[in-house]
Amino acid sequence: MTNVLAVAVDAALVDRITAIRDHRVVSIGRENVDAIRADVPFHPDLILIGDGLTPEQATRYAQRVLSEYPSMVIALVAEPDRDRIREATHAGMRGVISNAISDHELANLIARAGASAPVDAITGGLHQVIVVASPKGGVGKTTVSVNLAALLAERSPGAVVLLDLDLQFGDVSSVVDLQPEFTAAEAFDSGAADSMLLRTLLTPHPAGFHILCGADHPAAAGPVTGDQVRKLVRQFANDFQYVVVDTSAGMQEETLASLEEATDVAFVGTMDVATLRNLRKEIDVLAELGLLPERRHLVLNRMDRFSGLTQRDAENIVGMHADALIPAAANIPLAANHGRLAIQERKRNKMRQPLEKFVRAISAQTRRGGKHL
Ligand SMILES: Nc1ncnc2c1ncn2[C@@H]1O[C@H](COP(=O)(O)OP(=O)(O)OP(=O)(O)O)[C@@H](O)[C@H]1O
Ligand SMILES: [Mg+2]
Repeated sequence: MTNVLAVAVDAALVDRITAIRDHRVVSIGRENVDAIRADVPFHPDLILIGDGLTPEQATRYAQRVLSEYPSMVIALVAEPDRDRIREATHAGMRGVISNAISDHELANLIARAGASAPVDAITGGLHQVIVVASPKGGVGKTTVSVNLAALLAERSPGAVVLLDLDLQFGDVSSVVDLQPEFTAAEAFDSGAADSMLLRTLLTPHPAGFHILCGADHPAAAGPVTGDQVRKLVRQFANDFQYVVVDTSAGMQEETLASLEEATDVAFVGTMDVATLRNLRKEIDVLAELGLLPERRHLVLNRMDRFSGLTQRDAENIVGMHADALIPAAANIPLAANHGRLAIQERKRNKMRQPLEKFVRAISAQTRRGGKHL
């Protein structure tokens, strides 16, 4: 049971809230705001502040409530643009929701506020954080991340988030041809305080997953600490069944921090000795640092007949069995250049099958409880 207090919220939205089951709603108009006192018998779990209050009144009201109840969940109902989000979070509110929020999301929001759920409560402990990593650039991390997220979303629509953690040159948005309104820069700026706010920063992909896109300019990212990354990944893991993390080449601080929260790591290698040896070194260092997640996978990408290396050779160099073998295929960059997903290509699709096998391997290991090198 969740208690919702709607303050100066538009009547149509109050009606929609009232229609959702398993909670109580008290709606008050602008004129009664000052009458609500701390000792009223109705103690809300969630307060929604509507556009019946001016932004200044909303801020004052939120601050007054929070001074007495610091952990109260308060959201502003407004068009979630950058400035409103900044103002609201600055005032201690957890986020901004649009009047046009879907019934489903509204119900989720209310259920979550009532549960004040710890990590794992929502995803039933079955969430997977899959970090896609490699010591080398250009090996296909982003290609694998994007298509993996899309494939997981085919199985679990709405339950997948892709986090672009290549903070300087993240290019997920251009690979999928979306113009994000918000990026990871805003998520870190806001302190990733709350899942409600984070959701407003995500860009939906038509294939049924959400993306937190990388900053649109290297300078916009600003300094990000490992703590901020861990917190962000944890928030996502709380809300989504699958968190796919695309990283930049090498062992950047943010990559290491995301690995601390990971259940799975997918190492991507191409068929050249230098890359594969470096991959082995990276794995050794991560093991020494105690940062290897429980489940590790190897994806061999851009496989062709010309490298002079067999799958077995590559596995021996890395010291791991490969869970996915993706051939080199001209239509993979072609798809990316046109903002399409390689797994959705109709002709000569070389991506879908290996990634489906990969997803089966990931799920099987989850059920069995992991594998070790
Ligand atoms: N199997 C493949 N066959 C052909 N081209 C591929 C394949 N996989 C990826 N590519 C292409 O290789 C290029 C690099 O891929 P991608 O951007 O995914 O690598 P990355 O590891 O994310 O690079 P960075 O480290 O720069 O972020 C892209 O143009 C991509 O389309
Ligand atoms: Mg990349």
